[in-house]
Amino acid sequence: MEILDGKKVSNQIKEEITAEVNKMKERGEKVPHLAAIIVGNDGASLTYVGSKVRSCERVGFESTLVRMPSTTSEMELLNKIDELNQDSDIDGFIVQLPLPEQIDTQKVIMAIDPDKDVDGFHPTNFGKMALDMSTFIPATPFGILELLERYKVDTKGKHTVVIGRSHIVGRPMSILMGRKGWPGNSTVTLTHSHTKNITQITSQADIIISALGVPNFLKAEMVKDDVVVIDVGITRVPDDSEKGYHIAGDVDFKNVSKKASYITPVPGGVGPMTIAMLLKNTLLARERHRSRN
Ligand code: GUN
Repeated sequence: MEILDGKKVSNQIKEEITAEVNKMKERGEKVPHLAAIIVGNDGASLTYVGSKVRSCERVGFESTLVRMPSTTSEMELLNKIDELNQDSDIDGFIVQLPLPEQIDTQKVIMAIDPDKDVDGFHPTNFGKMALDMSTFIPATPFGILELLERYKVDTKGKHTVVIGRSHIVGRPMSILMGRKGWPGNSTVTLTHSHTKNITQITSQADIIISALGVPNFLKAEMVKDDVVVIDVGITRVPDDSEKGYHIAGDVDFKNVSKKASYITPVPGGVGPMTIAMLLKNTLLARERHRSRN
């Protein structure tokens, strides 16, 4: 069994990005600038956005954090998005999800300029991804592809089972694993809350990508020997520790890892890769804007 070490690989990617930023600085060019909008005070969202902004500083990007109260109206958020769309200093921005219920998430995603949509959530970018056109690939699926590639995990002709059909992870992942190329060329099964006999499906899988958000969902009895397991779950489980919680993945790591050929840990697997790939998309956005202006 080999650990797919997302912490290590994400640090390598950040070093590669830092080297690119240093070259930009030497040439006297503007460095990439990422902005993040967060609405409300959700603890997990604040933590994620905080680490996205800190990572920008680490690689030499400029960053802007826009905090808006939980009572923000849809119109106020749309106005802020328009401001960032127009701001030529900002190369890319994200609106952290989920949003408070008074705000229509689809309207918000549609309002983001696709050229600045470094999350890859706008239908133009999602459509391009599905059609194998050059675009921003959503950061978590992009991070998973990068991990599979750097560890040279064979995906061709394999049966990949994706658990969960979210717009952020499961759905794009199912498209990417089935596309021509590597990583890809898998036969993909996308499972979700209405799937019957999920154990029958997971036990035939060569690769399992679980993005469900249910701690310890995937048990050793549900997988075959030598399976490759990618755990996207990051659920906060309350406990007696000082922090008051710990982070749990979807996978019973202790037992599943005994059967797996490759497996991602939680934490330290997919999570850090997501941030590294958001930075990569922002670098790409900067390069595209430079070649256009
Ligand atoms: N919420 C959970 N994951 C993500 C992500 O990748 N991007 C944004 N904007 N919100 C999220």
